[in-house]
Amino acid sequence: MKFFIDTANLDQIREAHDLGVLDGVTTNPTLMSKEGIKGQDKIVAHYKAICELVKGGDISAEVVSTDFKGIIEEGKKLAAIHPQIIVKVPMIKDGVKAMKWFTDNGIKTNCTLVFSAGQAILAAKAGAKYVSPFIGRIDDSCWDGIQLIEQIAQIYSIHGYSTQILAASIRSALHIVKCAEAGADVVTAPLESILGLLKHPLTDLGLAKFLEDAKKL
Ligand code: G3P
Repeated sequence: MKFFIDTANLDQIREAHDLGVLDGVTTNPTLMSKEGIKGQDKIVAHYKAICELVKGGDISAEVVSTDFKGIIEEGKKLAAIHPQIIVKVPMIKDGVKAMKWFTDNGIKTNCTLVFSAGQAILAAKAGAKYVSPFIGRIDDSCWDGIQLIEQIAQIYSIHGYSTQILAASIRSALHIVKCAEAGADVVTAPLESILGLLKHPLTDLGLAKFLEDAKKL
């Protein structure tokens, strides 16, 4: 399973990258605005900086247009920023049409705001490289996000779809483990959840004892 970080914060991206386990980055308009990035030039420079930090990784950059023509124009501009850019497109009617156009024209996409297996089938049919089910937001609304990952994984496996399941809206380290178990190809998580995988009190206690005993050697 690949690890992406779900942030536009360069320090956090650098920290995850330095850990040696980072395969890519996902951003969205909310995450970009949190970094205070304003204006087209600054947005482009920020995406370039992310691509240069995570060399070779897939970097999702989201369109904000909602009509076919607008999505195509915006997506082409985003894809032209850097070869690592994946155009993130919302799961709406014009989004599906646009993803098919991008697929036919060699531009890779990540279908975002996915909350059902039906939407995931459409994304695969449109040739999206990634489909992003929002696990945490599903859990927040009292449905089971992990169950959706299992369902999509089963459908994609039966029908041989090559679209990769990118579990998004991750809230915890446990979510990451459950997504791995459920068959996600990629998980995109905040830094805190990735670092949460490190934690176990018995590791800390065991290390303290080893270090204490090492003094006797
Ligand atoms: O990037 C999309 C997704 O991961 C957003 O997560 O925490 O806003 O539900 P969240």
